[in-house]
Amino acid sequence: PGNVARSDDGALTVAGLDVRDIAAEFGTPVYVLDEDDLRSRCRDFQAAFPDEDVYYAGKAFLCRAVVRMIVEEGMFLDVCSGGELAVALAGGMPPERIGFHGNNKSVAELSRALDVGVGRIIVDSFHEIERLTALARERGVRPRVLIRVTVGVEAHTHEFIATAHEDQKFGFSLAGGAALTAALRVLDEDVLELRGLHSHIGSQIFDTSGFEVSARRVLALQAQIRDARGVELPELDLGGGFGIAYTSQDDPAAPNDLAKRLRKIVDSECAAERLVTPHLSIEPGRAIVGPAVFTLYEVGTVKDVDGIRTYVSVDGGMSDNIRTALYDASYSATLASRASAAGPMLARVVGKHCESGDIVVKDEFLPADVQPGDLVAVPGTGAYCRSMASNYNHVPRPGVVAVRNGRARLIVRPETEEDLLALDVG
Ligand code: LLP
Repeated sequence: PGNVARSDDGALTVAGLDVRDIAAEFGTPVYVLDEDDLRSRCRDFQAAFPDEDVYYAGKAFLCRAVVRMIVEEGMFLDVCSGGELAVALAGGMPPERIGFHGNNKSVAELSRALDVGVGRIIVDSFHEIERLTALARERGVRPRVLIRVTVGVEAHTHEFIATAHEDQKFGFSLAGGAALTAALRVLDEDVLELRGLHSHIGSQIFDTSGFEVSARRVLALQAQIRDARGVELPELDLGGGFGIAYTSQDDPAAPNDLAKRLRKIVDSECAAERLVTPHLSIEPGRAIVGPAVFTLYEVGTVKDVDGIRTYVSVDGGMSDNIRTALYDASYSATLASRASAAGPMLARVVGKHCESGDIVVKDEFLPADVQPGDLVAVPGTGAYCRSMASNYNHVPRPGVVAVRNGRARLIVRPETEEDLLALDVG
């Protein structure tokens, strides 16, 4: 993150605080959040998109304290479950600034969303439209709705593929005509207010031309809706997915450049379709919180295996970061508790779980004298690590510490063995 440096004797510091002090006070493993870095990422997005709405995608990482930060930074919030909604409300996010996603929202979740008055519900299926219509009618309310459109753009990190169809569970297919049918159906329901279309093409995207294709397709649908019903939808959400640098090979676009590109695409498509440009919103998750966090681990064992590879085992693993095992994601690691004059050694940083795929960092050069008791930091773990953490092997999930101006405060406490046993009622 932005405020990481080295102390005079070579230990990592964050916002002026030595990681050895963090480990001593809070234990390891621990997620360390550089609060000012998170806030400056919010500000960069807000400054780049001043006339648009920036929804932080809470699935990347959510807890009460982070909701408060997001509120203070003037952001909106995207939630995709009743649980995320509950945290959002507990953190003081005004309900009208919340967008509610999900391909299978339950009656209870939709009811809660209507009762608290969330700002928008992004509908994802015909069953949901029916369900929402009935619930809104019962309550005498008129929720604002966006239609999630599947545009046939598959974005993968460094490339994208535009196809006619997209075979996946989310949204209404554009190619098959379901998206138009859904929009017309919502327009026909007097208890639903159709505000616009929504498209989200993937995650960890660097090639922004995928957004170009998706904006063009979704705005063509917008023009069809206008031609069919004479209404111009006032809003358009282009989703999230903006990539971050996990390794030195990754080169993400700055929010400013991203904003310019997206605006240009939307403006030119609207001109081509003779549409009034809708009010834009985006939903970055990873790009806000990902780089603002590193995980601090303690090394437990170092094992040279037949001269083939050195395994450095840390005190966490796939339960606090499943992304390496699940997506073959690339991370880096650095010796955090001291300087070392030893030469580099190619190492694999692994966890403590009973599974050989329990890898945190596939390949990294660590000093050859790395040893038990050393602290190792893995950067870029703010997004989809704590939020996807598990209790595999009954390993308690680590806590989250926010550091600012040389001071650390626990914002999510680490789990204990009592927590692990608390659900056992038999
Ligand atoms: N909006 C919608 C509708 C989404 O589905 C997502 C992510 C986002 C926004 C935020 O995307 P972001 O800006 O964070 O890329 N667990 C995977 C990522 C799953 C993303 C799901 N949807 C991973 O760890 O890479």
